[in-house]
Amino acid sequence: MNVSPIAELNRLLDDGLSDIAGAPNSAAVEQLRVALLGRQGTVTAKLKLIGAQPLQLRREFGAAVNRIRDELANALAQRSAGVKEEERQAKIEAQKVDVTLPGRTRHAGSLHPVSRTLRRIEKIFTRAGFDVAYGPEIEDDFHNFEALNIPKNHPARAMHDTFYVSDETVLRTHTSPVQIRYLETHTPPVAVIAPGRVYRCDSDVTHTPMFHQVEGLAVDDDISFADLKGVLVFFLEEFFERELPVRFRPSFFPFTEPSAEVDMGCVFCEGQGCRICGHSGWIEVLGCGMVHTEVFRQVGIDNELYTGYAFGLGIERLAMLRYGVDDLRLFFENEVSFLQQFG
Ligand code: DAH
Repeated sequence: MNVSPIAELNRLLDDGLSDIAGAPNSAAVEQLRVALLGRQGTVTAKLKLIGAQPLQLRREFGAAVNRIRDELANALAQRSAGVKEEERQAKIEAQKVDVTLPGRTRHAGSLHPVSRTLRRIEKIFTRAGFDVAYGPEIEDDFHNFEALNIPKNHPARAMHDTFYVSDETVLRTHTSPVQIRYLETHTPPVAVIAPGRVYRCDSDVTHTPMFHQVEGLAVDDDISFADLKGVLVFFLEEFFERELPVRFRPSFFPFTEPSAEVDMGCVFCEGQGCRICGHSGWIEVLGCGMVHTEVFRQVGIDNELYTGYAFGLGIERLAMLRYGVDDLRLFFENEVSFLQQFG
């Protein structure tokens, strides 16, 4: 069907106006301006056709082309101002700062529960007059075993699951070698604790290849088992901030004679019996005893003049009991949500 030139112009106007109204941004408006009114634009092309119209139509056609050019130019100008304003608003919106939001807080770090527990142990013992000493984590056979009355081929070596560094050096399996090092460099009377990392080739729910111990040692001319009992009961009651039943069970360690293991009333069930204490009401917390004469002989201390006691305890174990942590591995996974609880 043949469309009249005027109708065609009106279609051009309608399409142009609806395109302009739908232009989403300045670039689209500009694109439309070029397409309609630019030098190669569709409306511009119509302007050039005015002179080619038959005479009786020329006036009407010319007026119509000029009208739609003006209308489209107008619409473009309006839409251009509109999108510019929309863009300005969007930019303001994007840059808006909500001053009512809470500020970004800085999270303070906190001590690891094992460090906290160690500090607590050190504080209690230093208050009781103990010195604090440290020894190497790579230890020689002599200090880790031999001088502690664990000669080569002694069955006690098998219990230690030792990591060997070389034939003569090991990752220390306990903090007891610091007893030897301390006695090599100090003369009695001495009272010292030695905290630190120890290593055993052992890994399951209740064992990790690295854990922490505190060794204790006191040597003087009249030290008795009663002193040992007194200091350990004092320590446990200070550490757990309550009176506790404590019992000493005969045991064996090569470096002490007599030796004992110390149990305390279960802090979870108050001695009633629960899963954690194996329904016994008691929890084993440390090993101890009177320093073996062979240990004194190894470091050149006169057995006739001196006696001493020694003890060894696990820091993770005490931390678990104090904080009610029931899985040892939590201390080493360093899950932030776990650690944050000890702020
Ligand atoms: N060294 C022992 C261990 O690794 C702990 C220990 C027990 C230390 C008795 C001592 C002690 O000083 O007297 O399990």
